Amino acid sequence: MHISSAVVLSALVASASATSLPFNPRASKGVCSATAEACSSSGSSDSCCLPTNGHIVLSQQWLKGYCAGNPSGCKITPTNSWTIHGAWPDTCAGVNKENCSGPTYTNIATQVKNINPTLYASMVKTWVSYTGVDETFWEHEWSTHGRCWSPAAKTCFSSFKTGDDLQAYFSWVVALRNQFELGKAFTAGGITTGKTYTAKQIRAAITKTYPGLNVALICTNGYLSEVYSAVYATPSGGVAGAPISDSDSCSASGIKF
Ligand SMILES: *[C@@H]1O[C@H](CO)[C@@H](O)[C@H](O)[C@H]1NC(C)=O
Repeated sequence: MHISSAVVLSALVASASATSLPFNPRASKGVCSATAEACSSSGSSDSCCLPTNGHIVLSQQWLKGYCAGNPSGCKITPTNSWTIHGAWPDTCAGVNKENCSGPTYTNIATQVKNINPTLYASMVKTWVSYTGVDETFWEHEWSTHGRCWSPAAKTCFSSFKTGDDLQAYFSWVVALRNQFELGKAFTAGGITTGKTYTAKQIRAAITKTYPGLNVALICTNGYLSEVYSAVYATPSGGVAGAPISDSDSCSASGIKF
């Protein structure tokens, strides 16, 4: 990146929260407009600012529920927090995209640690695999979904260096998750661990904090283990309101949390 946009970028980053580094400016076009929205007629058509596949399914995991429902599949002791499964780009019509062209990697932790130790530290906390091996999980998320997120294309960087693409995608996903972090909604909505809820109660809690957010509730043997949510991408995260094509796998009632 040219010095001028590096200066603009660091100013923007400084004013954002510590873990977010959401903007991915292409030097020739300057910094992406913060108000642009994917899949909207007012959105930028610059695929380096907004993903071409701009309907995003953000999936957050409640690993305590997953591990309670599937103890033999779980190799960790989960903390009381919602963590990232992934952010999956769909076409604006809501069609899933996977395995786009672009490089795959076997050293993602090293690359992220080298290019952005702060991002790495937040991924270790917020993007956790129940297998205990985050590297493999991150490789899968990058290869299957990250490569379909157009702002990470190497051609979006004026002078691509190792880790730029991973940093662009992963920092954007972490920022998106922080924007729609479910623990905040569950706390505000009075949904507490050790109790049983209806799908309606859980949905009401989520939309009270995140109005218009469409979700699908995923259960593992009766325990709430994951929530899919749909947003339209912005350069710094997303906006609620995108439809979701997935249905609940949880029953309508008796959901253990
Ligand atoms: C993408 O690749 C993964 C891993 O090889 C595979 O499981 C998945 O089915 C592929 N998706 C599509 C749509 O081909």
